[in-house]
Amino acid sequence: MDRIANWLNRNSLYIALITAWVAMCGSLYFSEVRGYVPCVLCWYQRILMYPLALVIAIGLLRRDWNLPYYVLPFSLIGLGVSTYHYLLEKTDLFAGSAACRQGVSCTTQWINWFGFVTIPFLALTAFLIITVMSVIALVNREPVAEDEEGDALRMPWLPVGGLIVAVLAVFAALFISGTQDPQVAAASTNPFPTLSLTPVAISADAAAHGEQIYLQSCAACHGLDGMGVENLGNQLRASEFLASNSDEQLLAMIRAGRELNDPANTSGLVMPPSGGRPDLSDADILAIIQYLRAE
Ligand code: HEC
Repeated sequence: MDRIANWLNRNSLYIALITAWVAMCGSLYFSEVRGYVPCVLCWYQRILMYPLALVIAIGLLRRDWNLPYYVLPFSLIGLGVSTYHYLLEKTDLFAGSAACRQGVSCTTQWINWFGFVTIPFLALTAFLIITVMSVIALVNREPVAEDEEGDALRMPWLPVGGLIVAVLAVFAALFISGTQDPQVAAASTNPFPTLSLTPVAISADAAAHGEQIYLQSCAACHGLDGMGVENLGNQLRASEFLASNSDEQLLAMIRAGRELNDPANTSGLVMPPSGGRPDLSDADILAIIQYLRAE
């Protein structure tokens, strides 16, 4: 136990450093390689996370024992923003809040690994690790021992630089593999042949229900009138795609979303699985389809 505590005390800020770099590169990977559009709250979290990648590196290099004081304000506010964002995505606590009225909706879940790991969840985890590591460093801080020349600044270039290069190398590999031949990648991701659908009865007022969910879940990208939004989503109402596909094919497509490397992708923009709303039922989505088909 003591050995682990000692190790943590000595390396806490290095753990914070790796975390900040992984978070920054990961968010750039999602937006630049995968094409996921950051919402307003995502931008606030980026503004708080990205400076930490450099601030922690510089503080470590200069052996600045005050580093936690510069890191904690960012990481604590970031923790607040990502907690709020995650609750917005997963609960009704802030239903009707005014956040994210511009651009892509803050409730759009681009990823939903294991049913709970979304992008704000990843940010929350990173801010939490950085906060805890900074507190450990704060508790254990000591004044810098100056050597004979009064040189407090023998810089630990090797560990700081080495960790950054290691994280960059991993993400460089991801960036390169993310730009592979689209046809090859798409061959394995076609959802249509394997999807089994449970038949759903559509009631007479499905279209009205559909309109309500459409406005909440799809309109930010496809427009209030279904005619599309530039750089976010294409036209759905009266579209050829809608006319030429059955309800079940549309349901399967909407469930799967459309990645950049999907051969059917025409816009160079990503549609998240279930429109970023994994909580929607098949009946909800079929109601949206009825609404879009209605004149
Ligand atoms: C974050 C933005 C976003 C959200 C939210 C979103 N979409 Fe999309 N959707 C897109 C983009 C971008 C495309 C076009 C991808 C392409 O180029 O093929 C698309 C394509 C589609 C298509 C295929 C249209 C065609 O002509 O190929 C359908 C159908 C569709 N979306 C339905 C929905 C529904 C229903 C919802 C709500 C549950 C929804 N989308 C939510 C971005 C979004």
